[in-house]
Amino acid sequence: MRILIANGTVVNADGATQADVLVDGESIAAVGRGLQGSDLAARVDRTVDAAGKYVIPGAIDVHTHMELPFGGTFAKDTFETGTRAAAFGGTTTIIDFAVQSRGASLREGLDTWMAKAEGNACVDYGFHMIMSDVNDSTLAEMDSLVSEGVTDFKLFTAYPGVFFSDDGAIFRAMQRTEKNGGLIMMHAENGLAIDIVAADLVAAGKTDPYYHGVARYPVFEGEATNRVIRLAEAAGVPVYIVHLSARDALNEVRAARDRGAMAFAETCPQYLFLSLDDLGGGFNGAKFVCSPPLRPADHQADLWQGLVKDDLQVVSTDHCPFDFETQKQLGVGDFRKIPNGLPGVEDRVDLLHDGGVVGGRLTKERWVELLSAGPARMFGLAGVKGVVAPGADADVVVYDPARRHTISAKTHHMDVDYSCYEGREVTGGSDVVLSRGRVIVENGEWKGEKGWGRFLKRKTAREFLT
Ligand code: URP
Ligand code: ZN
Ligand code: ZN
Repeated sequence: MRILIANGTVVNADGATQADVLVDGESIAAVGRGLQGSDLAARVDRTVDAAGKYVIPGAIDVHTHMELPFGGTFAKDTFETGTRAAAFGGTTTIIDFAVQSRGASLREGLDTWMAKAEGNACVDYGFHMIMSDVNDSTLAEMDSLVSEGVTDFKLFTAYPGVFFSDDGAIFRAMQRTEKNGGLIMMHAENGLAIDIVAADLVAAGKTDPYYHGVARYPVFEGEATNRVIRLAEAAGVPVYIVHLSARDALNEVRAARDRGAMAFAETCPQYLFLSLDDLGGGFNGAKFVCSPPLRPADHQADLWQGLVKDDLQVVSTDHCPFDFETQKQLGVGDFRKIPNGLPGVEDRVDLLHDGGVVGGRLTKERWVELLSAGPARMFGLAGVKGVVAPGADADVVVYDPARRHTISAKTHHMDVDYSCYEGREVTGGSDVVLSRGRVIVENGEWKGEKGWGRFLKRKTAREFLT
């Protein structure tokens, strides 16, 4: 199939230009002016008119949790429903987290997640590996996974008794990663201190979801962020802080980068657009329970500055949806039992366009950098994804920067019974979405297929991270 996307404005991270895009099979064959009618574009099967639209690389969400077991239940979206929703929102690649259960091998965890995704995912996908145990055997397994394209390992200073690793375990994983070329991703909150504050709050009768936000002090995130960056510096490896939410943590990342440390970080839309206030209102606040928690609204301006100044390199979603009417109810009477996580994989591109580009905070090129080009570079997909250029996969979105729509659970495609952004009107929307040369969404209609998505064997990204 040959598709010509004509008359659009091609927006890449390094610039925007009026150009046509020729897609041949699964790849981009040419990008240039006046391709329409040229010999190169002869025998096209279809022309998509992109006049007045942006033509952008399909967005990459490097932080999703489809079907994650958490707090006695499972994140609701499957690889089928979650990746379909992602595609409606202009995201054509996800990198999800496979989980090593305590006592099991990394291999068992990876096999389990591969089986969940294979034959089900609607867009391309890769995996990071969550490490729950660090020992001689799992350390050796890390090397194999890197060579198989699972190049990053997430460890936690949070969730004692579940995913928590102590400093020695984290440092050992970092030392190993320094040798195998992978990347350490850190959930940086001081979970031991949080658990003490949370227990005190519950003992004092403060059990509402709001106190989830109160218990997890910003300084606990700042302290853990500093600690893991210092450990990474000692080990000589790059470190990537996931779902950074607080000014306190951002200050630590900025200071580290200023002294030349290989420290990187992402934030998520919920920390840019929602706040601690959303956790109020009685049990309704459970819809907004995630970790790290939503912060007081005055942290948001700092995060936007971080995105502009490149102290934050990526915006991901941490998509981890639980139904409010059933799953979130597990925490009635004790906020510690509310499954942690929010839906968002479908909304990221539009929220960041609306709040960033339309809001005057980001250029459209920086928007593409944060959603697509940056994630591709950081996670070993450079040249393949994240760019509209000859030779790259034809993951392309025709994006209407002027279309207005209202976010709602009534119309979204995520398999979850609420939206954190219910009723919010945004400007910008994905009109036509191509995944490896195939139109999978067109004007709000699904044209894709379960199982179309392929596993991405990713390269290590050390060349970009040092
Ligand atoms: O609340 C969150 N973030 N849930 C997903 C698990 C994690 O820590 O990323
Ligand atoms: Zn986390
Ligand atoms: Zn997460």
